[in-house]
Amino acid sequence: MTGAALADGQTVHDALAVPTAEEAVRQNEIWTLKRKLAEEIAPELRRHYETEIVPRHVAEHGAPPADRRVIASLMAPDPRMRLFSALRRRSQEQMWDLVLTSANRQLDRLLDLAAGASAAPGSLDLDPALEIPRYLRAVDIHCMPTGYYREFAPDDVTAGALYDRGVYVYAGGQLGGLNDDKGWSVIRGYLDRHRPGWTPARILDMGCSVGHSTVPYTLRYPAAEVHAIDVAAPMLRYARARAAALGAPVHFAQRDATATGYPDASFDLVVSHILLHETSVKAVQQVLAESYRLLRPGGLMIHAEYPPFDTMDPFAQFLVEWDTTNNNEPFWSKVRTLDLVAMAATAGFDPATVHRELIPTGRRLTTGQSGSTSGGGRMQVLAASR
Ligand SMILES: C[S@@+](CC[C@H](N)C(=O)[O-])C[C@H]1O[C@@H](n2cnc3c(N)ncnc32)[C@H](O)[C@@H]1O
Repeated sequence: MTGAALADGQTVHDALAVPTAEEAVRQNEIWTLKRKLAEEIAPELRRHYETEIVPRHVAEHGAPPADRRVIASLMAPDPRMRLFSALRRRSQEQMWDLVLTSANRQLDRLLDLAAGASAAPGSLDLDPALEIPRYLRAVDIHCMPTGYYREFAPDDVTAGALYDRGVYVYAGGQLGGLNDDKGWSVIRGYLDRHRPGWTPARILDMGCSVGHSTVPYTLRYPAAEVHAIDVAAPMLRYARARAAALGAPVHFAQRDATATGYPDASFDLVVSHILLHETSVKAVQQVLAESYRLLRPGGLMIHAEYPPFDTMDPFAQFLVEWDTTNNNEPFWSKVRTLDLVAMAATAGFDPATVHRELIPTGRRLTTGQSGSTSGGGRMQVLAASR
């Protein structure tokens, strides 16, 4: 069931770790700080770069800084840059800490809710023997202290509850009240345009986390059987409780997107939303091959990711790369350099059907770059048909 929205706009549903008034104030301080850093300080850094660093570099070397790494070395000593870095890192850690405290306070209720969700339409199929990929174990990704997969109680949902509220605060509400902007962006910005009127019978969402992007597919394609997989059990248990609260009949399963175990030709539509940047080169290639194997003739694969480096200027690339080194996102930069179109062809797709395009999305990144689509950001879509 959904109800009112929090004062900051997040839609309240039964599974949400709703902050107390005191917790909300502290969480919203982080939101305000993050927004200030993105909307005021990042553009200031760009101005400093363009008006002071570039002219000096041109005077000394006869050309502007060659790339994002040179820019990083030139910006690093600047006191404004150091303050920006310190505040961004600190705000990220503090955001998770505050939301975790709030989620822990409500843990008994959330565990009960998850246990009681088993009767709702849809399903949950966990595999305790599934190995968590090394790239998820190696760091606490984007400084999330639970990671996606760690468990602190029997049948735990903590990481899922943390993610649902944390993503909303992190994105400053830009993903919408249900954090579902990416799912809707792919549906409206790609599927409605390229396959209007299409009615896929079976849909698979890979790397679904708590199902933020999965639920929109149940709404746009109500006759379809919607499946969603992730390697992390706490995310899936929470996703199941959340989907039940929202009345969305999703079949969640703990499976690895690189080797799902579903039979060949099981799905008409295979999608993912910001999964690829949290994996590895090898896993991306395997996910593409698995997508190819899973599609029925006439089926469609769509992987939505953040924009690649070749769509932004070197200073924007430098600010994007900040997260790679400072926010525990080891694959955040590398994925933006991959030739995903060529990799899809290697995975088996007919090159004539493979393409990538940028679609509008609500989420803006801290690039300090003007010129993104009005009011929002852009997301890369890699698409191919079987
Ligand atoms: C950034 S989150 C995805 C967010 C979600 N798709 C959305 O749109 O809200 C990445 C998710 O991918 C999962 N993941 C990473 N590697 C995976 C793999 N090989 N197979 C399945 N899930 C994976 C992680 O556990 C995590 O929940």
